[in-house]
Amino acid sequence: MPFEHDDPRVQAFGRRVESAFSSDESGHDWWHVWRVWRLARRIAAAEGADPLLVELAALGHDVEDHKLGRTEGTLAAWLAEAGADAATAEAVVAIARRVSFKGAGVPDAMPTLEGRVVQDADRLDAIGAIGVARAFAYGGARGRLLYDPAETPELHARFEDYKKTNSSSLMHFYEKLFLLKERLHTPTARAIAEERHAFMERFVQRFLAEWEGER
Ligand code: ADP
Ligand code: NI
Repeated sequence: MPFEHDDPRVQAFGRRVESAFSSDESGHDWWHVWRVWRLARRIAAAEGADPLLVELAALGHDVEDHKLGRTEGTLAAWLAEAGADAATAEAVVAIARRVSFKGAGVPDAMPTLEGRVVQDADRLDAIGAIGVARAFAYGGARGRLLYDPAETPELHARFEDYKKTNSSSLMHFYEKLFLLKERLHTPTARAIAEERHAFMERFVQRFLAEWEGER
């Protein structure tokens, strides 16, 4: 069933994104976008953020992602086509530009509440059971090892270094996923993250124990 929404702008934009993201192996499939939209809506309601801006930004947050090679301007064009006014489109583009995680030591300030809500939702979708699944799906799509005992985790100070990393999927937990809980902005997202984070820690502990044949 195609994306449905009471607001015709959100529906039109959501459908545009849905059709563009329907096949993608970089972890940026439509269902990632859909989950972020659901979480963002829930967090926005609890935090009193503007729902239109949050929903459009959640749906559009990965449209111009560096890994997907889509050109600058795509997001603004799709928003205009969907009937969003210029101010709204501009605010959505400003949020989308800042959402992505770019390495452990790279600053990621987010000046608006709506931006913080969308960034939190995107980060929550990278942790927990979904996060585990996405990390190994991403690694698999790039032919990476599940784990390599010779590796030690690296905390990247520069986005260029973080982008270049070729490490095993398990290293990604140390390079990014275990750090996300502390980088969340809103109390609502922080509460949701507790259980997701604890689950990932249990997963990695057990993975390493099974790796050694101890369990
Ligand atoms: P975002 O832009 O949403 O912060 P990314 O584009 O970096 O996220 O990653 C998309 C998904 O793929 C996320 O779930 C992320 O954790 C996972 N991922 C990114 N890089 C790696 C990697 N080197 N190894 C395993 N998973 C990764
Ligand atoms: Ni995302």
